[in-house]
Amino acid sequence: MVRKKMIAGNWKMNMSPKETVKLLGELKPMVSGSDVDVVFCVPAIDIVSAVETVAGTDIQIGAENMFYEEKGAYTGEISPNMLVEAGVSYIIIGHSERRQYFKETDEMINKKVRKAIEHDLTPIICCGETLEQREQGITLEFIKKQIIGAFMHVSPEQAMHCIIAYEPIWAIGTGRVASSAQAQEVCQGIRATIRNIYGNQVADQIRILYGGSVNAGNAKELFSEEDIDGGLVGGASLKPEFAQIVHYKDL
Ligand code: PGA
Repeated sequence: MVRKKMIAGNWKMNMSPKETVKLLGELKPMVSGSDVDVVFCVPAIDIVSAVETVAGTDIQIGAENMFYEEKGAYTGEISPNMLVEAGVSYIIIGHSERRQYFKETDEMINKKVRKAIEHDLTPIICCGETLEQREQGITLEFIKKQIIGAFMHVSPEQAMHCIIAYEPIWAIGTGRVASSAQAQEVCQGIRATIRNIYGNQVADQIRILYGGSVNAGNAKELFSEEDIDGGLVGGASLKPEFAQIVHYKDL
């Protein structure tokens, strides 16, 4: 089964609308003409500028968060309809920073996943263990629980189109990348979990990304692993280096 690779940037809380136009204007010609799906997940305030800047290319824009209600008295939140109307096609759900700082639980993440799917937004569902959990040897068990939680009441047809991002917390923003063998082991475990829930077709088709200190120096090795279908890139997505990651085959 050949799965199309995806390289998604996660800008986190970086870049103003003006900076967005500048950076995407620079990167646009550099990332076009590749055979991977290229997505930039940007802060909500930057979405409109980002969508306008990449118009006419095959670059897609994603959001970094969304609420699971349609509308109403939820001060500060953004609804799926607002994102769709603005031109968003992907949505990061359950990033470890949101789990940690904003107390998002597996249950909330599941509600967001289902709501995103209902609106034809493709969720990029994040999972990943802490260093402590890795040292205790409970990584696979913990991630299995996160995956099962995120996919509750999601049908096989819906699951097939979701994206999963495995991001070990100890590798995020630390410069300490998981080895390609460590990343492959967990991504394989995630695919096995999906196989258990949904069977072969979904497991063979669903794309699983690796995230955590991906850069131009490690991308090729990571993305060559059998169960790693691309990357979710934080820090390096804010620089021209992102284009090298998109063209990782040439590295
Ligand atoms: P990083 O972030 O590439 O800066 O480690 C990855 C992420 O959190 O998505």
